[in-house]
Amino acid sequence: MLVLHRTVVAAAPASCANLGPGFDVFGIALCEPEDRIELEVEDSSTFSLDFEVEGNVPREQEKNAAAFVISCIARKYRIRKRIKARLRKGVPVGVGLGSSAASSVVSAFAMNKVFKLGMDVMQILAFSSEGEKLCSGAAHLDNITASLLGGFTISPSRFTPPVSIKPPDSLALCVVTPQVDTPERKTEYARSLLPEKVGLPDVVSNIRNASLVVAGMALSDIDMLGMGMEDYIVERSRLKMNPHYPSVKLEAKKAGASGVCISGAGPSILAVVDSSKRKPRSVLDSMLRSYRKSGIKAEGFVTKPGKGARIVG
Ligand code: HSE
Repeated sequence: MLVLHRTVVAAAPASCANLGPGFDVFGIALCEPEDRIELEVEDSSTFSLDFEVEGNVPREQEKNAAAFVISCIARKYRIRKRIKARLRKGVPVGVGLGSSAASSVVSAFAMNKVFKLGMDVMQILAFSSEGEKLCSGAAHLDNITASLLGGFTISPSRFTPPVSIKPPDSLALCVVTPQVDTPERKTEYARSLLPEKVGLPDVVSNIRNASLVVAGMALSDIDMLGMGMEDYIVERSRLKMNPHYPSVKLEAKKAGASGVCISGAGPSILAVVDSSKRKPRSVLDSMLRSYRKSGIKAEGFVTKPGKGARIVG
C-alpha cells in the first residue's frame, strides 16, 4: 500500500495588538517568542488528526486553536489524509501577546503549504480568525494579521486590504508581563468592559493619535509613533484589570520610552523606545521596578519587531 509522507515545519510570532488607539486594527509582530508546528501527512482514505502539543494549552482538539484551524481547513478542502501535528508553544498563553493568534496562523500557514492549497492572505486570515474566535470569543484580526504578515500591520475589513509597514530600524520593544490573576476567558471579559457608545471628542482624539502611529511608522519617527499611542477609549475602560498600568507607564516614560500601551487585552505592557537615542534596557528595568514597588512580580524582555509566518523546515 502506498504511504505518502510529507512534512513541513512553520513558525509564527507573538504580537502586540492595539498600540493604544488602534483597537482591533493595529498589531506589531515580535521578533520573539514564536509558535512552531510540524505537520506530517500520510496517505489515508479518511481525515484524521493526531495532535500533540508542548505547552500550557488545552490538548482537546475542539478547544485548541491550532487543532481547530487544521480541522476547519481539512473540512473545507475535503482533505482525506492522516495528519500528525506537533505544536510547540513558545508564546505565553493569556498574557496579551497573541498566543491564540500565533497558533491559529501557524496552523493555517502550514496547512496551506503542505497541501498546496493556494490560499491568499485573506483566506489564511479567515481560517485563522476561526481559531481566534474559539479562544477569545471574537474573530478580531489585529493579532493574526501581525502574526501572519510581520512588522506593523493594519488589519483588513471586508472592503479594505491588510497593510504591513516595515517599522523603523531603531525601534525597540520592551514587553513586561506582571504575574497577576486574570479572569477565565480573559479577552472575552476584557471586551465585555468596553463602552457601547463613545463620545465624539474621544473618537477625534483617537483618530488623530492612530494617524500619528501610522505616520511615525512610515516616517521612521519613533517619538511621533509613541505620542500617538495614547488611547482615549479602550484602556480606560479596562483599568480595573490593570490598576498598576498608569504608574508603570509613568516610570517607563521617565526612563525614555516614546510611548506605552497595554498589549492587546493585557496584562502585558508594551513600551516603544528609540534605541538610537535611549537605552531600552533602562526602560525595561524601570517598568519591572515599578511593579516591584507595588509588590507584584513581573518579568520582561527587550525585543525588536519581527517577521511574519514562515516555513522553517
Ligand atoms: N484587540 C483585541 C482586544 C486584542 O484588545 O480585545 C486582544 O488580544
